[in-house]
Amino acid sequence: MSGEVCPHAHAVAAETHVADSDLSEQIKAATKEPHIRAENTELMRSYVRGQVSASQYKLLLCSLYEIYRALEEEMDKNASHAAVAPIYFPQELARLESLQSDLEHFYGQNWREKIIVPAATRRYAQRLREVGESHPEQLVAHAYTRYLGDLSGGQVLGRITQKSLGLKGGEGLSFFSFPGVTSPSLFKQLYRSRMNSVQLTPEQQEGVLQEAVRAFEFNIEVFNDIQEMLSITEPETDLRQRHTKPCSHTQLL
Ligand code: HEM
Repeated sequence: MSGEVCPHAHAVAAETHVADSDLSEQIKAATKEPHIRAENTELMRSYVRGQVSASQYKLLLCSLYEIYRALEEEMDKNASHAAVAPIYFPQELARLESLQSDLEHFYGQNWREKIIVPAATRRYAQRLREVGESHPEQLVAHAYTRYLGDLSGGQVLGRITQKSLGLKGGEGLSFFSFPGVTSPSLFKQLYRSRMNSVQLTPEQQEGVLQEAVRAFEFNIEVFNDIQEMLSITEPETDLRQRHTKPCSHTQLL
């Protein structure tokens, strides 16, 4: 991170005041258990052990591309919706272009013809489009799950990818890099305060919390599908990853 002053710092100071009833706290509490389950998928456990393979990372990029294509198209379409506008930060957060450049790095110029997308990823993208169409306020749950994750554990995963795959000079790693976010922790504070400014009826708030749990579950299913595909092509990797105890890294990192 550079030493520049975060352009959002003043907004954070003015807007930060979090209570238990706030959406940011409720969503964190509601997704605590699925977060632990996500961390304990075989794919994420390979990451935490610093053992991510090029095949795992490439398949993950393919899925992330489909997920962010759907998420960002729906966010763009609903940018002026009252529940979306406060958390709409395309300049700071948009991932689609960085994923395209990472995919080009690994698969070459005709990457679009080569990417492999498991069924779980298609279901997740389909759900994002349904939410954008029918319940735009629930995009908050999906944007929270992906973007705040990318700015949290995702930053550690980026460093692990670089080391595991020996990638020099950030090549193939743009997904993890947020040039528009000077301080991830300050930006997350701003994002939480923006989430808390969204006006929701109690029913809508409940819908957002349930959708956040679903969002984590979609991610878990994607990770499992990726791992399943690899266990067919790389059976030894699969064996090496079994027989390990579940754990939570949220407290450790
Ligand atoms: C927060 C680690 C996987 C979504 C965090 C935090 C850590 C972490 C340390 C807390 C950061 C903070 O309080 O500032 C990890 C690790 C993972 C992992 C080690 C995998 C090995 C995931 C996945 C998702 C996710 C797969 C969702 C797709 C989130 C979200 C937050 C978060 C949304 C923000 C929680 C909040 O402050 O409300 N993660 N994470 N994480 N993570 Fe993860």
